[in-house]
Amino acid sequence: MAIRNIVLDGDDVLRKVSRPVTIFDEKLHLLLDDMAETMHKAEGVGLAAPQVGILRRVIVVDVGEGVIELINPELISKRGSQTGNEGCLSFPGQWGIVTRPMKVKVKAQNRYGEEIIVKGEALLARALCHEIDHLNGVVFVDLAERMLGPDED
Ligand code: CO
Repeated sequence: MAIRNIVLDGDDVLRKVSRPVTIFDEKLHLLLDDMAETMHKAEGVGLAAPQVGILRRVIVVDVGEGVIELINPELISKRGSQTGNEGCLSFPGQWGIVTRPMKVKVKAQNRYGEEIIVKGEALLARALCHEIDHLNGVVFVDLAERMLGPDED
């Protein structure tokens, strides 16, 4: 496993739409392992493949309950809403107020290509929405009602 470089704000790769994964091979497994390690090292709760320069529909999320790997994730239902502070490893030191669903259900594939359903609420729902947005070239600053200064919360 290896730490990969995280793409920062201003890089065009963050604005591109990622392509679906069709091959579930060792290269994908290495990417997933590296993404989890990179996310943990950076103390983030989620990371999307375009953030390490790979335009494929792959995300990892860990809100403190273990790593969730999602390939080709699709939001299939959402309920309620939550408004709160959000940041991104590609936007260090920037925070904004973003409204997200309170509960989501996501259909995806695991690293072997098997279909899985993941349900999330609160922070997990927020992280899943944030990371899926990355696969469509959408970043949280696009959605923020307002941005916060570094010392506000
Ligand atoms: Co992000």
